[in-house]
Amino acid sequence: MSVKLNYTRDELFADPEFASRIKREGNLYHGGLAADGTYLPPRSLHRIDAIKAWTAQLADAGHPTKVMTTADLPNEFFPNTDQAKHLLRNGAKGAMCRILTMIGLIEGFGNDGLKLFPRMPWQPFFVEDLDGTCLNHLPPLFDAHGHDEAGSDYKGYHECGHDEMWYTIRDAALDDPIITDDMFENLPIGPPPGYTGKAKASSEALDASQLIGTPTDLAPGVPPMFGMLVTAMTSLLAIELIAYTTFAWAHEVLSDSTCSADPEFAGSSVDYIADDETIHVSYLQCALAEIRCRTIIGEDTSKIPGSVIVDEAVKRTIANQSGSRFNRIMAHRLRQVEEELALRSDGEKILQEFLTLGPVPV
Ligand SMILES: [Fe+2]
Ligand SMILES: [Fe+2]
Repeated sequence: MSVKLNYTRDELFADPEFASRIKREGNLYHGGLAADGTYLPPRSLHRIDAIKAWTAQLADAGHPTKVMTTADLPNEFFPNTDQAKHLLRNGAKGAMCRILTMIGLIEGFGNDGLKLFPRMPWQPFFVEDLDGTCLNHLPPLFDAHGHDEAGSDYKGYHECGHDEMWYTIRDAALDDPIITDDMFENLPIGPPPGYTGKAKASSEALDASQLIGTPTDLAPGVPPMFGMLVTAMTSLLAIELIAYTTFAWAHEVLSDSTCSADPEFAGSSVDYIADDETIHVSYLQCALAEIRCRTIIGEDTSKIPGSVIVDEAVKRTIANQSGSRFNRIMAHRLRQVEEELALRSDGEKILQEFLTLGPVPV
């Protein structure tokens, strides 16, 4: 039997059959559970198999199927799990509340950012035929990804995406904390153009133009639209890969009954989101790897190896994600912990113990 490699938009949007749905205080999550309790991501009836088939096609032809790994990217989180647990066990919820709000906000930015990704047929840019590839399915994959990040209403009712799922996790684990406006500030990634909410980026944050860079100079003759697509995809892939570090951290802290008000719900919710993110990582890896082994038609009709363009974009993305910028954002996070503890009579004692539990930014 031949493997199915072409899918309609409806197929890529189709949900599997859910035995039950996940809901908390009126918030209905996207996705659902199978009869045996296994989490089934949203829009995954065909989407996961499709990405597997496109990836297998690459591997069978002897091509790499990944363009970047977590080892290429920063993988530390401040406060670390011991420090975060220490604060929560002492009733200092401010840092965790800020971080979970920030994660939800950045998930929502994902959707705003994805809306800016060009939605055009990519075949005219390639020498080779794109039939039966991930690249030939990018518009519905981007749209499905956007709904995963920020929810949807297209079924006639609202399903929460990752942004609202994180807020639900925060409220469950921290027992409905008070959310203040300063929790929407000092974000490490700036809101994309068109964002109208109250979130504010740190002065150290990467803004959208830095994330996208100057796509035309990835290699001589790269069509600007094509360069923009590749840089946007490598930037998004890096953010998705870095998120794995955050999820492992959040699972460890929020599923611990000594510092979480609803460890089972919070821990499993983090894992559901991580399962959804695996879909994002795998299709972005696949599409970028497909470009790498193809030939791009340059503006002057020159032929540019896809690997030249993708490898340059990956190199710039990795360089953008490292350096002292993150340390300055983390230092701001430490100041907020110190300010919260300074308001308590036992704050100095809690802070001193916090400092023994792991490195702090300087
Ligand atoms: Fe997400
Ligand atoms: Fe994602």
